[in-house]
Amino acid sequence: MLSPASSPTRRRGAAIRGLGMAVPATVLANHQLEELVATSDEWIVTRTGIRERRIARDGETTSALAAKAARDAIADAQLEPDEIDMILCATCTGDYLWPATACIVQDAIGSRRAAAFDISAACAGFCYGVEVAAALIESGKANNIVLIGADTLTRHVDWSDRSTCVLFGDGAAAVVLRPSEPAQGVLGSSIGADGSHHRSLFIPAGGTQSRLTPALIAARYDKLVMRGGEVFKFAVRIMGEACLNALADASLSADDVDLFIPHQANIRIINAAATRMGLPPEKVFCNLERYGNTSAASVPIALFEAAAMGRIKDGDIIVLVGFGAGLTWGANVIRWERTPTSDEAVL
Ligand code: UT7
Repeated sequence: MLSPASSPTRRRGAAIRGLGMAVPATVLANHQLEELVATSDEWIVTRTGIRERRIARDGETTSALAAKAARDAIADAQLEPDEIDMILCATCTGDYLWPATACIVQDAIGSRRAAAFDISAACAGFCYGVEVAAALIESGKANNIVLIGADTLTRHVDWSDRSTCVLFGDGAAAVVLRPSEPAQGVLGSSIGADGSHHRSLFIPAGGTQSRLTPALIAARYDKLVMRGGEVFKFAVRIMGEACLNALADASLSADDVDLFIPHQANIRIINAAATRMGLPPEKVFCNLERYGNTSAASVPIALFEAAAMGRIKDGDIIVLVGFGAGLTWGANVIRWERTPTSDEAVL
């Protein structure tokens, strides 16, 4: 884990100035899953909180969803694509093993000047990206960064495994981060990993460890495998810990939080983490009933919808937190100021 590093001397901050979101049109409701596996709408709603999710159709790639979200975020920030310095795409379901999906997005949106790379930290990827983007902006290495969370995990779901196929959905969302006054934007972060649990949630074949063969594909080794109970216990513990570490990095406490925007994996995990932090339900944002777990897209989709619904106002302290395969985790504390209080060009 990176140690908390409050920096009272920092000369500029990094704030979110644009937001975009893209989800596939195809909806898969719980009752449709009842036709595939031995499950019920009642079990899924009670045990997870999910009612429906979006499914990417053939041709609806991770990069296509990511590019739409990125374009909208750039327009929302009132920038042109060629003003973007860097594109970071948090994803674990890129279009190819390589090159990076961020490069495909760069081409699609015409951000010719932008450096582009992916962040592979699964469902914590967006929170990792906020830490990386903020550090680059604060240091003066970059000015306009597009950070995307995008995944099409349903491509890797085993539709005969009821313990996983009910959980995941597809989507993307993006933000534009720009220089701000030091007291605005990203105030603190905490990211970490415990690689000793890398097999708690993984895809067994398709990488250099196990090449895909017809026999392995037939045995569904190209589909995700999860020890759900293990991940559940880890998530409840780490969400609270990561948020408190990020708040300490920002010299704040849980009492200062106006809105908690957690990874949308399971309503029971979210409620347990919020209780541990002493947050009342009205300070917790949830939209997993409509999207399920969209992996790296989950936190930014929730952020996009929270902002669109007027749940965040200027000056609010929001906390983002994600956890996922790796196992990884990340949390960010942000003072929300959509409108710059000074001329960003001089920062
Ligand atoms: O981004 C990170 C991704 N991962 C996660 O966040 C996952 C974290 N884990 C979880 O959310 C939960 O562990 C699950 C939702 C995956 C499972 O919930 P659970 O309450 O831990 O259920 P369980 O695994 O203990 O299973 C309880 C029962 C079992 O039946 P028996 O053995 O008691 O007869 C399962 O076979 O529920 C059964 N079950 C189901 N029944 C109906 C498991 N999945 C289903 C299902 N429909 N879809």
